[in-house]
Amino acid sequence: MAFKEKKDFPQWPIWNKEDIRAVEAVIKSNNWWCGSPAEQEGKNVWAFQSEFAEFQQAKYCIAVSNGTVAIEVALLALGVGMGDEVIVPDYTFVASASAVVATNAVPIFCDIDPNTLVMDINKVESLITPRTKAIIAVHFGGNPVEMDRLCEIAEKYNIKIVEDCAHAHGARYRGKRVGNWGEAGTFSFQASKVLTSGEGGAIICNDDFLAEEIYSISDCGRKIRDYFYAHYRYGTNYRMSEFLAAILRTQLKKFPAQHKLRNENAKYLNEKLGSIDGISIMEPTPGSEELGYYYYPIVFDPSHFGNITKADFYKKLNEAGIPTEDCYPPLHTLTCFKEVKLRKSINYSNANWGGKKSDDKNFPVVTNIYSRSVQLPQYLLLAEKGQLDYVVEFIRSLK
Ligand SMILES: Cc1ncc(COP(=O)(O)O)c(C=O)c1O
Repeated sequence: MAFKEKKDFPQWPIWNKEDIRAVEAVIKSNNWWCGSPAEQEGKNVWAFQSEFAEFQQAKYCIAVSNGTVAIEVALLALGVGMGDEVIVPDYTFVASASAVVATNAVPIFCDIDPNTLVMDINKVESLITPRTKAIIAVHFGGNPVEMDRLCEIAEKYNIKIVEDCAHAHGARYRGKRVGNWGEAGTFSFQASKVLTSGEGGAIICNDDFLAEEIYSISDCGRKIRDYFYAHYRYGTNYRMSEFLAAILRTQLKKFPAQHKLRNENAKYLNEKLGSIDGISIMEPTPGSEELGYYYYPIVFDPSHFGNITKADFYKKLNEAGIPTEDCYPPLHTLTCFKEVKLRKSINYSNANWGGKKSDDKNFPVVTNIYSRSVQLPQYLLLAEKGQLDYVVEFIRSLK
């Protein structure tokens, strides 16, 4: 195979006339927002909430402005606040932890499983203290966390679970879509996500009272079907606009076929790449039936590739025209978590990061995995088999 000839890989986002017509219809409707809780003038926002809830097999969906505030609102609605501790995997986007900080709680970082790349369930219990109020289960790369085991732990210690499903739209674990195992599931529709409107987010849940709380916090303390200027609790404006909801509705129609293809192509890549000595793929969590595949991570053993560095691995993939995504630096390495000085008056004494605690040796698995991981983006999993073969053969040629 000639690697000089660059393949024309799929681009993201994928849109058509249906998306344009949907946005045009919003413009012409003269109603550009979701509307008051009583009138619900914004037909797209309210319809999208029902459609996405149905797709994710949840009773409720509350649309919000992005995936970061979705986590924050879910935590606030569950009563997480000042000085509480929330366990977060160390390998995730900063939002999974910054949303915790925004509620005045303290994130506690958990190392990952080297095979599935999600939080290591075996390490969770050792991080629980009397102050632990919640766990953020991030389905990294769309790979579900072992939710049955995590739910058992949460029940034992009376801890709430928020599933951060920003990578995991459509993922299914032991017969249930993710987001329905914990108290709430949060989603991002930011530009790179598998379901996107550029920005946007949502929270799903199955409890009537929690759904009311979540709605109220995200809409200035109002109540659904109630008077616009009645504010029952402290809340703020995290509402989604009609434009975002209109695109999400047309994108959601395209999503199931894309999701199916991503899962088929990932299986194909798993077999082919997994047979190359020195390459490990992200192992689907036992019990997972569909993955979200926001990322397709590849972990390489440098000793099988002439001691290539991670930077060179990326460079070579890019030179061959293969699209890639940077990996998240582990949270404990981020500048904002190097020093324990995030918010005033919060007791950070139990934080397992900051100063010497942020040493890589305290997070050995993620440190090792991060040093030799590269990632392919979700849209590459929409490519044709010939294009996937090109990726596989190119990686094989690096040996
Ligand atoms: C795991 C995870 N959680 C939360 C978010 C935050 O979503 P948003 O960018 O919509 O705020 C992201 C975004 O990349 C993410 O990857």
